[in-house]
Amino acid sequence: MDKLIIKGGTRLKGSVTISGSKNASLPICIAALLAPGASTISNVPELRDITTTAKLLGSLGAVVERNGSTLRIDAKTINTVEATYDLVKTMRASVLVLGPLLARFGRARVSLPGGCAIGARPIDQHLKGLKAMGAEIRLEHGYVEAIAKKQLKGERINFDISTVGGTEHMLMTAVLAKGETILENAAREPEIVDLADCLNQMGAKIEGAGTDTIHIQGVNGLLPTAYEVMPDRIEAGTFMVAAAITGGNVNINSMRLEHLDALCFKLQDAGVEITNKDGVVQVKGPRRPQAVNIRTRPYPGFPTDMQAQFMALMCVADGASVISENIFENRFMHVSELQRFGADITIEGKTATVKGVKKLSGAPVMATDLRASASLVLAGLVADNITEVSRIYHLDRGYEHLETKLSGLGASIERVQEP
Ligand code: EPU
Repeated sequence: MDKLIIKGGTRLKGSVTISGSKNASLPICIAALLAPGASTISNVPELRDITTTAKLLGSLGAVVERNGSTLRIDAKTINTVEATYDLVKTMRASVLVLGPLLARFGRARVSLPGGCAIGARPIDQHLKGLKAMGAEIRLEHGYVEAIAKKQLKGERINFDISTVGGTEHMLMTAVLAKGETILENAAREPEIVDLADCLNQMGAKIEGAGTDTIHIQGVNGLLPTAYEVMPDRIEAGTFMVAAAITGGNVNINSMRLEHLDALCFKLQDAGVEITNKDGVVQVKGPRRPQAVNIRTRPYPGFPTDMQAQFMALMCVADGASVISENIFENRFMHVSELQRFGADITIEGKTATVKGVKKLSGAPVMATDLRASASLVLAGLVADNITEVSRIYHLDRGYEHLETKLSGLGASIERVQEP
């Protein structure tokens, strides 16, 4: 198993380029299942979750080839509609194949994903939507079995909560249903807009993606397409915090600042300077950040996927900051690891109070999930001495070449293999 060795204390300087979005690539690659033929998806990051997606599509009979950041997915040859436990358990987004397989072939059998480190993460909203469209759903032996005796039909689906995956799943299913589907209380994340743009390019008729009401007019079939995935807003946000926490000066290329408004306001409140010039975002960190409070919310609120990284920043802020996590019930696992750096954090329910300290001290720490791992790397960048982050396979799920990009900005960070 690999680990990262970080020698803290360098102010990051220079330019970094953001990769394609993991969380947009996953559903977009899965959407390729809807069209018999070869779709070409570009700007797909090289990550473990993408490799899992390629394996999953391959296990269904699709032919998947990678050439650099481009995936060619030929879904003409699908020969099974079953997604097995060993693939679904390693990546929850695998469950998104259920609707597209059902819509195209009339049946699908997909393992239930189970819980995960950051919370229970049920899929009741996904199943409620499929049932509303006429699918018969049975849960048997840990699998969801879905059958559509006739073509799925458009319906009004009112989500009980804002769900990114649920909204994406219903989009990918309703495109081939008969008549109009209306998704109410839909999630508004930019990744949903990217998926809808891709589906529309394949011939779907979707309006309103990015708002809480989405109208989908079903069509008889979709065509393969060539589509370029949007930049990863969470990777971009993580580099913004890296610049901020090290008091650095970093130019970030290929990011869409408009996707990160909530984060930018909070960074600016903390004293970070952010300027956007000709598509390059310059981030200058203050000598010491000011404490600010955050509450995670569905988009356009503060992203839960940036909570851990922002907490690392608040660990060295001047003052006390209150951080409340409102999306996942168990997303504070980085706290006990941040405490190993000497951070002063107390948790009560879904709220963490972080009293900023002047200095963190490097320590051996363990990654527990993707964004928690990123927060440990950020803390390591500013801590005295040496930090060792182990179990970084979590990081490899979601950050493309993280240590190479950070080294390019002057950080002292290297990957070593643990015996
Ligand atoms: N939820 C339900 N029932 C459902 C669906 C969701 O109760 O049927 C709950 C979840 O348990 C959670 C909340 O609703 O408490 C929001 O979940 P959502 O469905 O929005 O999340 P997701 O689609 O499973 C995606 C991202 C996550 C990101 C969340 C929230 C992907 C592949 N994953 O997950 O990304 O945190 O939206 O923005 O797009 C990450 O990249 O590190 C990551 C975890």
